[in-house]
Amino acid sequence: MNKRLFLFSLAVTTILTASAHFVMNLQTKKIGSAVSPTMYGLFFEDINYAADGGLYAELVKNRSFEFPNPFTGWDISGKVTLRDDGPFERNPHYVRLAPSGHRDKHSMIENHGFFGMGVKGDEEYRFSVWARVPDGGSAKLWIDLVDNATMRDDQKLGNASVEVSGKEWKKYTTIIKPDRTFAKAHLRVWGDGNATTDLEHVSLFPVNTYKGRENGLRQDLAKALEDIHPGVFRFPGGCIVEGTDLATRYQWKNTIGPVENRPLNENRWHYTFTHRYYPDYFQSYGLGFFEFFQLCEDIKAEPLPVLSVGLACQFQNQDERAHAAMDELQPFIDDCLDLIEFANGPETSKWGKVRADMGHPAPFNMKYLAIGNEQWDTPYFSRLKPFVEAVRARYPEIKIVGTSGPDSEGKMFEKGWEAMRELKADLVDEHFYRNESFFLGTAEGRQRYGNCGALRYDSYDRKGPKVFAGEYACHGAGKKWNHYETSLYEAAFMTGIERNADIVEMATYAPLFAHVEGWQWRPDLIWFDNLRMFRSVSYYVQQMFAKNKGTNVLTLTAENIKKLKGPSEPVAGQEGMNGLFASSVFDSQTNEIIIKVVNTSKTAQDIHINLLGMSGERLAETLTLQHDGSMDDENTLEQPFRIQPVSGSLKCVTEGKKQATVLKDQLPPMSFRLYKVSVK
Ligand code: AHR
Repeated sequence: MNKRLFLFSLAVTTILTASAHFVMNLQTKKIGSAVSPTMYGLFFEDINYAADGGLYAELVKNRSFEFPNPFTGWDISGKVTLRDDGPFERNPHYVRLAPSGHRDKHSMIENHGFFGMGVKGDEEYRFSVWARVPDGGSAKLWIDLVDNATMRDDQKLGNASVEVSGKEWKKYTTIIKPDRTFAKAHLRVWGDGNATTDLEHVSLFPVNTYKGRENGLRQDLAKALEDIHPGVFRFPGGCIVEGTDLATRYQWKNTIGPVENRPLNENRWHYTFTHRYYPDYFQSYGLGFFEFFQLCEDIKAEPLPVLSVGLACQFQNQDERAHAAMDELQPFIDDCLDLIEFANGPETSKWGKVRADMGHPAPFNMKYLAIGNEQWDTPYFSRLKPFVEAVRARYPEIKIVGTSGPDSEGKMFEKGWEAMRELKADLVDEHFYRNESFFLGTAEGRQRYGNCGALRYDSYDRKGPKVFAGEYACHGAGKKWNHYETSLYEAAFMTGIERNADIVEMATYAPLFAHVEGWQWRPDLIWFDNLRMFRSVSYYVQQMFAKNKGTNVLTLTAENIKKLKGPSEPVAGQEGMNGLFASSVFDSQTNEIIIKVVNTSKTAQDIHINLLGMSGERLAETLTLQHDGSMDDENTLEQPFRIQPVSGSLKCVTEGKKQATVLKDQLPPMSFRLYKVSVK
């Protein structure tokens, strides 16, 4: 075991006196393993209304009338009929508004949005519709944004109209400006009663989307992604990649091209949890693979798409016949090869041309491809083999990510790793939604989960595939969610990821988004309603690491652990350094050393860090996850900034004849602080 491992690997409980301090030595001149630029990233899945009703800024639900119940999300009145010979082959339904025959009896449709539509009084909204007048001539269409929830004299928040003319289908667009902010608006579209009008793909977007794109993303949510400085972006799932059955798996080719012609798919999260049932939760694919790649480019994250290996969800399908047989895999393999061409191929290639026609002639420069999500055992290993061979043969530069299954330990997990080694996968995607004991690596955690806590990766084989911690979050025992304490333990765990940057290439918390009225899974990184959002404490932990990941690991060791004695209470179940967890990196771009220290003990701790190789007085910039309340505190829509990182500074002292630089600090109980010291 090397000295570095000794530091935080030793499961030693130490006790500090009130005056005692914990000494660490940081080798500031010994530049260690590189930290991968992809290290801290994001994992996006359309769960919890993350896409439709969330990041994807479309406000109309079931805009093409393709839901199994074609009027889901709509109220209709007057003479409204559904027809199925519309202009978009894969979304054939549309509605016909015919004159009712009575002056004030309007034929009208009204959309409820996703839990209503959030509109802001100072913003513009772009309404669009494909329409025609089947009998020829022209007809006026009225568009109202309404508040029919509160008792107002006039329900209208804003309105506009368009003149539809001719028998041909055309796209009509107009802008609506609501006169006030309202979270639960509806969109009403009605004819003036003089002519029959056909309507298809009824859409409403804020004009102010992220980067101003028409088929765009919600500004505040996309900005939160950008702000984290993610190194990698894994998409589109998760379980939705596999599908409950193969027919409902995520098929990327259905998610590109004109949005009007992207076919609807079910979303398994609408029914997976019977206690959180959302029968109106489908995937419009308005946010599809082109938009995902574009987002990665915008937020400067490496794209990491996940594709099906020909297995439907193994949890839901025990029968081998539910999956593609070995001789039926070619279309799935082609999906992988074609995706690489779509992302990276020249404009002259078949799929590169599709990308260019969508407005992005330059390649997206995709480097990673994951094949399969949470798959296990022989059905997976045998199927993955021909995928690996085909991708290696045509695109040897692409890094292939395999999976070790849904568990973070156990027989299947071991078998998965063994198989990935044999197949020479570049990375293995591990998932762990575990409680506090796992993240802290307590005796209880080690007994239950085996290799866990910040020490987890210390013992990994350095010769095999790299690690991708692709889905993880601390799920508080006793069903506590997104509160300060569990996020702090995630930070403690992440120091172990960072120390092991030579083997861990990327890590992504999961899930990413949740609508407060429509979640199926928690905790989540970012919560939102129709108008507001907040970043969870875990978000800030991720951000503190991601923005300060540095370029190389530095060796940080503890001194005299056993000599420290005193009255302070060790926290039950915690071991190693009195609940102190730490890691350090050097940033060659900024010439700074960055030290992250997490105190998971319920007492304050004095730390002295000898910055070996540095001398003279220096100023350390600090960033502290500011919190002085209960461990159960969390950020909320009402108090979004209750817990967040706060900047400060600290003067390092000098000691001895050589004026050696020492960073001395007292860490509050249950705290996370990082320090940056310039080496110039
Ligand atoms: O993140 C939620 C789900 O957890 C993912 O879809 C799946 O991969 C895992 O089981």
